[in-house]
Amino acid sequence: MIDPKSVQEVLEVSRVEEVIQDFVNLKRRGVNYIGLCPFHNEKTPSFVVSPAKNIYKCFGCGQAGGPPQFLMEHEHLSFPEAIRQLAKKFGVKIEEKELTPEARQQQQEAESLYLVNQFAKEFYDDKLFNTDIGRSVGLNYFKERGYREETIKKFGLGFSLDSKDALTLAAVNKGYNLELLKKLGLTSQYDRDFFRSRVMFTIHNLSGKVIAFAGRIMVKDVKAPKYVNSPETEIYHKSKVLYGAYFAKQAIRKADECILVEGYTDVISLHQAGIENVVASSGTSLTVQQIKLIKRFTPNVKILYDGDFAGVKAAMRGVDLLLEQDMNVKIVLLPEGEDPDSYLSKVGISSFREYSEQQAKDFIMFKANMLKEEAGHDPIQRSNLIKEIVNSISLIPDPIKRSLYIKECAQIFEVPEQLLVGETNKSVTRKFKRTQQDKEIASRRAERTGEAIPESDVLLPAPSEKRVTSGDEFQERDIVRILMAFGGEVFDEEEKISVAEYILHNLEDVLEDFDNEFFQQIIKEVHQQLEQKQNISDQYFINHENEKISELAIGFLTSPYEFSANWAEKHDIHLSQKPPEQNFSIDSIEALKRFRLKKIINICEKNQEKIKELALQGKDEEVAAHMRVHQKLVEIRRELTDELKTVVPKGYNLR
Ligand code: CTP
Ligand code: MN
Repeated sequence: MIDPKSVQEVLEVSRVEEVIQDFVNLKRRGVNYIGLCPFHNEKTPSFVVSPAKNIYKCFGCGQAGGPPQFLMEHEHLSFPEAIRQLAKKFGVKIEEKELTPEARQQQQEAESLYLVNQFAKEFYDDKLFNTDIGRSVGLNYFKERGYREETIKKFGLGFSLDSKDALTLAAVNKGYNLELLKKLGLTSQYDRDFFRSRVMFTIHNLSGKVIAFAGRIMVKDVKAPKYVNSPETEIYHKSKVLYGAYFAKQAIRKADECILVEGYTDVISLHQAGIENVVASSGTSLTVQQIKLIKRFTPNVKILYDGDFAGVKAAMRGVDLLLEQDMNVKIVLLPEGEDPDSYLSKVGISSFREYSEQQAKDFIMFKANMLKEEAGHDPIQRSNLIKEIVNSISLIPDPIKRSLYIKECAQIFEVPEQLLVGETNKSVTRKFKRTQQDKEIASRRAERTGEAIPESDVLLPAPSEKRVTSGDEFQERDIVRILMAFGGEVFDEEEKISVAEYILHNLEDVLEDFDNEFFQQIIKEVHQQLEQKQNISDQYFINHENEKISELAIGFLTSPYEFSANWAEKHDIHLSQKPPEQNFSIDSIEALKRFRLKKIINICEKNQEKIKELALQGKDEEVAAHMRVHQKLVEIRRELTDELKTVVPKGYNLR
């Protein structure tokens, strides 16, 4: 592991513009640099690099970060890999640090799981090419499907023998641990091979390591499943994996599009034919994590599906998730009964390309047209279908996109646009309320049971979008914003304390009372840093290893006025007050007070409940004690409210 001190040192000397200039042609524009974004296709530059803040941000696609994030995104590196590369470029010598015993054990275990899988892959591979049965059954099968040898090797296809323990014995003889083989599902609990008499498909993670296998049956047998798959393990989480992603990622970025298919064989066939930006969800319906994986490379998805009714319905379900994630979805229906693999081998690559380009339809339009045909002129059916389409449209987070779709759909259905606008708004509101309720329920349940709130349930303010947060979280968010943007500034010249120190000093007693776990985690981390006499600056957050923290910081730091030097003139704003970036002292006092006020009000309420309860039980003495607390609380509350009125300068917008 790299010593955190070295990481800090590397971050301090790394210059974002120098890192990016290795890959992108940058031009000076005022205090910033500007260029064509390397993360999406564009003709006019919207990619801005700020040497002063040591960050980049694309105002087109939203990609943003500091030096390590750029390398992680552009070169597909992990955080430590990016740090090592930066160290080399900027001449920092890296100190390695010993891992804790637990961390080392965990890492070693994962490493050994990969090693065992790699062994198994080579074993299956060997059997495919170097045994009679492997060649006559397995290799022959692949060749008949049209796979070339280089393709077979590239995708790590193999063959498992019809033997009760060929793999298990070979592995154990080589010194691999039987327990690990069992953990990976390669060996059953009775020491038998799990995959037998099947052609094998290797499943890789994004960096090409072997994480799992799938085996396809070679005989027609109605009872046995066509494919069997490795179980979920520490290194294989089915819902997070897309088959083929390792081989597709570069091509996806280049084409700025990801083709989504259903099966292993579809991926391999298309890839071999030169369509490399293709991945499969492996028969299961698409998950949010899989979509987020795609989103790292492109917002555009093209789904290729079997044209039968079941295929279409299956596609529809996954698409709603895609829309919710703000992806642009196109759909290509293949002729009935064909999957991409079979259709490709039927018509050849050029006809296939032609077909999938001509047939690609925007998903919403496709759905609208399909539903319209289905409904005919039946008024009840028509009204139902409008609800259906409105439902899909309301999933799209981007309001501009939504209104474009509404326009087109109004035309298709020959109804007034305003009607669809009204319906969509209702649906958006309903959804919003529902998610809020779900979250409240989740957090109440979490409170009762002490379990962690699932990540997706935390009201996480995504930096690029506005979300309404509940009362307390708004205050908490504001405090985090100030910490991130101004934590390193001097709060008080005389006392020589920084904004971060001031804030944390005032929060120490309520560190446990945060509503939002994510904000709390950040604040606690800052607390620790300060205890260890570490300085906190915006760079600390921007380059944070935790992607969510760095995203949040960049969001705070890249509001348009903070990104340009002369924002006031440019936007023709003439303020008597200071721009927000110079208002941090007032901001932080105020945010803190509001936060404390919130907490006091909460405590007040709880205290009152308690008083009621005690009164009912007739515990007079205790009631009296709590009443005194109550008076004290009310006093503090009044103080805070008064101060809040005075601390806000006139005309200053309460945010
Ligand atoms: N699948 C699975 N388990 C099954 C059946 C299917 O995991 N019992 C997954 C596989 O990832 C498979 C995908 O669903 O690739 C699509 O299934 P299907 O269309 O039946 O298989 P194909 O990939 O078309 O395989 P083949 O062409 O060899 O029949
Ligand atoms: Mn098939």
